[in-house]
Amino acid sequence: MKHWWKEAVIYQIYPRSFQDSNGDGVGDISGIQQRLTYLKDLGVDALWISPINVSPMFDFGYDISDYRAIDPQFGTMKDFDSLIKAARKLDLKILMDLVVNHTSHLHPWFIESRSSKNNPKRDWYIWQPGKKGQLPNNWKSVFGGSAWEWDESTESYFLHSFLSEQPDLNWRNPAVKKQIFSDVEFWLKRGVAGFRLDVVNLYFKDALLRNNPPRFWGWQYPRPYELQYHTYDMSQPEMHPLLRDLRKLLDKYKAMSVGEVFGDYPGDPNKAASYLGNFDELHLAFDFTIMFQKWSSDAFATVMRNWMRACGPENWPSLVLNNHDQGRSYSRYASGKNSDARAKLLATLLLTSRGTPFLYYGEELGMKDGTIARHQLKDPVGIRYWPLNPGRDPQRTPMPWDGTDKGGFTSGDPWLPLNDDTPQRNVAAQLADPESLLSWHKKLIRLRKESPALRLGTWAELEGTSANVFGYIRQHDKDKKSILLNFADRPQVVSHGGTVVLSTHRKKGDKLTSSYELQPYEAIILQ
Ligand code: NOJ
Repeated sequence: MKHWWKEAVIYQIYPRSFQDSNGDGVGDISGIQQRLTYLKDLGVDALWISPINVSPMFDFGYDISDYRAIDPQFGTMKDFDSLIKAARKLDLKILMDLVVNHTSHLHPWFIESRSSKNNPKRDWYIWQPGKKGQLPNNWKSVFGGSAWEWDESTESYFLHSFLSEQPDLNWRNPAVKKQIFSDVEFWLKRGVAGFRLDVVNLYFKDALLRNNPPRFWGWQYPRPYELQYHTYDMSQPEMHPLLRDLRKLLDKYKAMSVGEVFGDYPGDPNKAASYLGNFDELHLAFDFTIMFQKWSSDAFATVMRNWMRACGPENWPSLVLNNHDQGRSYSRYASGKNSDARAKLLATLLLTSRGTPFLYYGEELGMKDGTIARHQLKDPVGIRYWPLNPGRDPQRTPMPWDGTDKGGFTSGDPWLPLNDDTPQRNVAAQLADPESLLSWHKKLIRLRKESPALRLGTWAELEGTSANVFGYIRQHDKDKKSILLNFADRPQVVSHGGTVVLSTHRKKGDKLTSSYELQPYEAIILQ
C-alpha cells in the first residue's frame, strides 16, 4: 500500500526565523507562504512548522495557551488557511507541532486548575498536596531544578517537566484526552496533513509518583542536567494504547504523526522504534542517536544499522540530522576547507537512506550555528546555563535568503542576529551556483523522486568496502542503487563497480569496474 509520508521529504520550519513579512523582525505565516515556490523548487513534499499556536513564548511556542488559535506574532487564522490553500496548489503538505505533554501556565485550563482544589479543571494537571519545601518526589525538570513548583494559592505542588511556565497535563484524566483529540481533529478538518508530537514519551507519569533512581554519570539534553534515570517520569507503558487511538483518528484523514522520543544521550533506537508499534502507533519516530556520532564511517554505519534493525522490515525509519534543539550538523562536522564536502556527504546519506528524511531550514545551504552574544540570548536554556551551555539560539538564527544586510529575512530588526557568513552563504548565491550545497540537495531530492529504490527500497550494507567507506545498497524490484561514502580526507580504493548516477566528483554515466579510487569525501551513487 502507498503511504505519502513514506515517500516524502519533510522540511522543518522554525517560523520565527524563516521569513518575516511585516517588518517586526519575527518570521510569520505569510512569510512562509511567500517562500513556497522556493520550497517546491527544492523538491520537498511537506513542511513541519514548529508551534504557531497562541503562546506567551516562554519557550518560543512550546508553551501553548490556546490550541485552536494562531499567535498574532505569526499572523491570523486567515493567513493560515491561505497558506494551506497555496501549499495545496503546489502539492505541498503542512504539518503542525502538537505540544500536549504540557500547556502554558497561562492556558485558561491551568488558570482554572490552579484557582481552587475544587475546580473541575483541577485534575487536568498533576497536583500534589504538600508542605512548602517538602517536594513530592525527586523528579528533575529537563530545564534544571526540581520538576515541582510550589503554588501558594492552593498550597500544593504542580509538575512541570520543562519550565515552570509549562505545567504538565494529566493524561490519566479521560477529559484531557477527549479535549486534545478534538483539538487535533479541529486542525485535521482545516487541512493539516499531520503532526510532529513534542516529547511523545512523556505524557504519562508513574501513578504512584515513585522516585527516579539516581545516576552517576552521563549527559542529557540540554546539558548540564541533574542526573537521574527517568524510570518513572518518562516512557510509561500507558502511552502505547493512547497512540493506537490517535493513529485511528489520523488514519481517518490520511494524516501522519512523527514523534519526538525524548531520552538520555545518546538516544536509543529501540526505544524510538517501540513507539511505532505494529504499524499501528506513530507513523514515524525520531531517533536522535545519529546526531551524536563522531565523524567516521564506522560510527555512521553502526548507527544506521541499529536504526534499520530497530525498525525492522515493516516499520519505517525517519532520518534526521538537525532540528531546533541541537547544534547544526554543519558546525558539528566542520573541518576547515572540507566542511562543504562533508556536508555534501551527509546530505547524500540523509537523502539516499531508507526512511523519511527531515531537513531543517538552512541545512540545504550548510547553515552554521550563529554566534550569539550573551546580551542577545533569547532561549531560556541559554540564559540559565550560559556559558556552560549557550542554549538553542545558535541553531535558530534567521534564514539567509540573499547577501544583503538583513539577508532578505526582514526589513526590521531581526529577533536573532543573522549569521556572519550571510553575504557568502545565502539562497540567492547558491541557486546561481551548480556546485553549491543547495544545488546538491536539489539533485539528490530529484533523484530520490525518480528512483523507487531510493524512496522505497530495502537497505543492506555493502560488504568489503575500505575501512573509511560506508556503503549500502537500496533495491526495489529492478531498481538497484549502491551508495558509497568516503569519510576520509584521502583517496580510498574500492572495488564495487557500476555506472555513475550521481557523484560529488565525477560525471553521470561514467562506468566504474573493479578497483578505483574514491576521492576524499566523495559521495557516489551507482547503478
Ligand atoms: C522539545 C522541543 O523540541 C523543545 O524545543 C521544547 O523546549 C521542549 N520539547 C518542551 O516543549
